[in-house]
Amino acid sequence: MAAIVRGFHDRTPLSEDEADVIYSLARARLGASVSISGWKRHQSGEVDDYALISERPAWDMIRKLDQIPVRVAEGVIRDAAGLSASPKTPVLVSWLGDQKVEPVMDIPESTDEITVLDLSLSSPLLNGRDSEDTETFTRSIFRHMEDQGARIGIGRYLEPRAFYLTEIFKGREGDPRERRTVHTGIDIFDQAGAEVRAPLSGRVHSVADNGGSLDYGPTVILEHIGPAGPFWTLYGHLEAESVAGLKVGGDVPAGDVIARIGSHPENGEWPPHLHFQILTDLLDFEGEFPGVALPRERSVWASFSPDPNLLLRLPCETTFEEPEELSARRAELFGSNLSLSYDRPLHIVRGVGTYLYDVMGRTYLDCVNNVAHVGHERREVVEAGQLQMGVLNTNTRYLHRNILDYAHRLAALFPDPLSVCFFVNSGSEANELALRMARAHTGGYGVVSLEGGYHGHSQNLIDVSHYKHAGSGGAGAPEWVRTAPIPDDYRGVYGREVMDRGTRYAMHVGEAFGSLSSNGHEPAAFIAESILSCGGQIEPPAGYLEEAYRIARSRGAICIADEVQIGFGRLGSHMWGFETANVVPDIVTLGKPIGNGHPIGAVVTTLEIAESFANGMEFFSTFGGNPVSAAIGLAVLDVIEGDKLQEHAAVVGGTLKANLASLAMRHESVGDVRGRGLFLGIEFVEDRMAKTPSARIAEYVANRAAELGVLLSTDGPDHNVIKIKPPMTFDQRDAERVVATLDRILTEDGARPNT
Ligand SMILES: Cc1ncc(COP(=O)(O)O)c(C=O)c1O
Repeated sequence: MAAIVRGFHDRTPLSEDEADVIYSLARARLGASVSISGWKRHQSGEVDDYALISERPAWDMIRKLDQIPVRVAEGVIRDAAGLSASPKTPVLVSWLGDQKVEPVMDIPESTDEITVLDLSLSSPLLNGRDSEDTETFTRSIFRHMEDQGARIGIGRYLEPRAFYLTEIFKGREGDPRERRTVHTGIDIFDQAGAEVRAPLSGRVHSVADNGGSLDYGPTVILEHIGPAGPFWTLYGHLEAESVAGLKVGGDVPAGDVIARIGSHPENGEWPPHLHFQILTDLLDFEGEFPGVALPRERSVWASFSPDPNLLLRLPCETTFEEPEELSARRAELFGSNLSLSYDRPLHIVRGVGTYLYDVMGRTYLDCVNNVAHVGHERREVVEAGQLQMGVLNTNTRYLHRNILDYAHRLAALFPDPLSVCFFVNSGSEANELALRMARAHTGGYGVVSLEGGYHGHSQNLIDVSHYKHAGSGGAGAPEWVRTAPIPDDYRGVYGREVMDRGTRYAMHVGEAFGSLSSNGHEPAAFIAESILSCGGQIEPPAGYLEEAYRIARSRGAICIADEVQIGFGRLGSHMWGFETANVVPDIVTLGKPIGNGHPIGAVVTTLEIAESFANGMEFFSTFGGNPVSAAIGLAVLDVIEGDKLQEHAAVVGGTLKANLASLAMRHESVGDVRGRGLFLGIEFVEDRMAKTPSARIAEYVANRAAELGVLLSTDGPDHNVIKIKPPMTFDQRDAERVVATLDRILTEDGARPNT
């Protein structure tokens, strides 16, 4: 309703009187709708299906509105019409500014003894979800205060925070990304037992113990008289004993001690602090009042609870500024081909496990970032990097154990004769190096790659990446490159009905090598992924790679397996993609997941190729294989093994794929579901028989899913494939959510085929 009012008000400004009657009118209209339907039913004596269709959503809306206090609903509408949600607030705010107030707590005079704590989503003070564990949270806050030489710490007003995780903060339905995250009071962190005083005279309105986990604990609300009637001040997380003597209705002179700060756990299981908030309307709450709000209602609740510093008068910054709009700055600073995902770009500031959080605390289930292989900001990986970073980070020209331990662990994951590692900083660098090695070993220069393939952003790799050189802005392949057809048995020349489609597709690899040679280019390499990622999650038919490798080798080329996207157990059944195709490459390239976000690339090859490469020219990468990267790489391997993530990908990915396939039974737009483990693709079509690719539906799905809190990406030569490649810690509940979200979106008009 707020969106409609906002849109209307933008075009035809509403007066205050008009805005104030909208809610009542809307309720009356809904009431009329259901009454008319009921009356018709009564008169005709039968159930009218058509009337029911319009009656049901009206009842749904009535039930939803029933959960919202009337003045909140009215406030939401007033806010949408550009008015203060609480009509009393503007006059109260200017009056409060003129009042003489007593200090609520013993606040140091020197700002040096006060530190403003960053408790926002991007705060380094809160690692991951540490705040679930109050002890760690408390230690980190009080240690920070001590480091700053501060006696008290301030938690800001209107700050979006990550740590409101219990059910009470779930908030109303309406936007699945949102919980109540925006803090509408000010926190003063001090030792338990510190005294709390009334800033103005008033009377005790309520004393209550809100005892749930992460709730307010013992809470006092005082009532004061302002210019437009009563208003209230709320004091949360108190010591129960200190408020036991307070009498509801009793007078409290300004400056009187009313309570002391409570300790954990009686204070609602928080670090010791006072939560102080001003209330302009009690909104039918008793003994408590929401201290955190949904991001979409930030300004509404900021009106019901104006800036507490009007009374606290703290000599420091106390309000979290509304996040800066970054798109324009980005457009100024970067080239326009550095694109942003989604029609409404996301401002992501924190990652935990399979979730990403935006600056307002909205949560997104991440099905895109295969780089965060063992989960976003996985503690073991972060700590390994932090520890080594504090000791030594230098290049590989010194002896160091980390790189040797890492090379040993990594090489052990490969079949013979793959045993020698080279470390670089990205997938592109790994593939560049692989090409150089192939050329050094074979003496040839030519490369055969696959249509739809992507191997990196350097010039050489753009030249071998059909995905780029044949796409928009591309200049085509140079003479030394040939691309063989994408082995796609859904859409390609040999479909699933062709029994020997694997060998048939592979024959084109032979033709490509033939064409290279006949144009005077001796072959050096055949490069391919075992499941084509940018090509649209294409799993080549059985036997394809075996035959393609045989042909490539018979032409004198060596075979490079690009495992940058699919490696490290993602496919579930095997550690490496090439193992699913029953081949052993001559060179394997690694990137993305290898460092869980830390930039590492690696090449693993045979001793023979490594020796050919050592032709006198030194190999050196300044950052490649440094002790920090090696420590991180080792930690990633530990987690993959410890958490059995490969097996996990097989189980969760298997169920997910089956459930995605069942979507095809309900939704005509689903043309194909494919992939392995946690590397899946859904291809969208306008017409299932004609397989007309629908980039339109894929794009609609990705954008809508983001609005519903699930991040997906689109890819493939026709941009009509939704890719699912989440962190490997993605679990069954996450998978169920993805399927349910897609199921919902695919019934929407924007996702229906145009046939
Ligand atoms: C299959 C594949 N190979 C190589 C690369 C290049 O890796 P990077 O971006 O780390 O240079 C990518 C990147 O998307 C990729 O998907």
